[in-house]
Amino acid sequence: MSGLFISFEGPDGAGKTTALNKILPELKSKTSREIISTREPGGSAIAEKIRDLILDVKNLEMDDRTEALLYAAQRRQHLIDIVIPALNEDKIVLSDRFVDSSIAYQGGGRQIGIEEVASINDFAIEGIMPKLTVYFDIPSEVGLERIKKDRSGTEDRLEKEKLEFHQRVRNTYLELQKQNPERIKIINANQDPTKVALDVLELILNKFPRVFE
Ligand code: TMP
Repeated sequence: MSGLFISFEGPDGAGKTTALNKILPELKSKTSREIISTREPGGSAIAEKIRDLILDVKNLEMDDRTEALLYAAQRRQHLIDIVIPALNEDKIVLSDRFVDSSIAYQGGGRQIGIEEVASINDFAIEGIMPKLTVYFDIPSEVGLERIKKDRSGTEDRLEKEKLEFHQRVRNTYLELQKQNPERIKIINANQDPTKVALDVLELILNKFPRVFE
């Protein structure tokens, strides 16, 4: 596959979607290659149906391992429908979340364990990994406060989790970054959104100077 795969990760409320929307036109203006922007959970018809199932606040009795398997299942379908075809066509794929989300949220947050969650995802992704993962780091209290403000009353099933859950998610992300310092780069997301977007843009441009002029 000749394409370029970049993922964006971070706790809820870190502002990655906002930053992605801000940098997309900039990146497009700096390359002749096609860029597609997609997201997990979801991103394709079947994967979006699995997303609805996972995030539905009515599904309170969902087992933690069922949740982990559903995330891995939507990831597989999203890879087959969107990511792999685009990478085969030399495109640049920006994915709002990928496998590190499962390791952080289900492995760390739900305490299933990093190894267990990594192993079911190995089955789903068959070795396809991003060349770069941009990790938006933010204290859990700040992220949760932002969510409360933005979506009061419409938080999804995971956003409704307690502070300790979100702290475990963040700690697992930081652990993953330590284990994969070459692939996962940290952005300080606890600053003005314009500055966050600029930092992300600079990171990507510096990492791939031959792709973006
Ligand atoms: P979003 O808010 O970025 O759209 O993501 C929806 C929620 O799903 C968010 O709380 C993070 C969570 N999530 C997991 O728990 N595991 C995963 O593998 C993914 C992709 C997302």
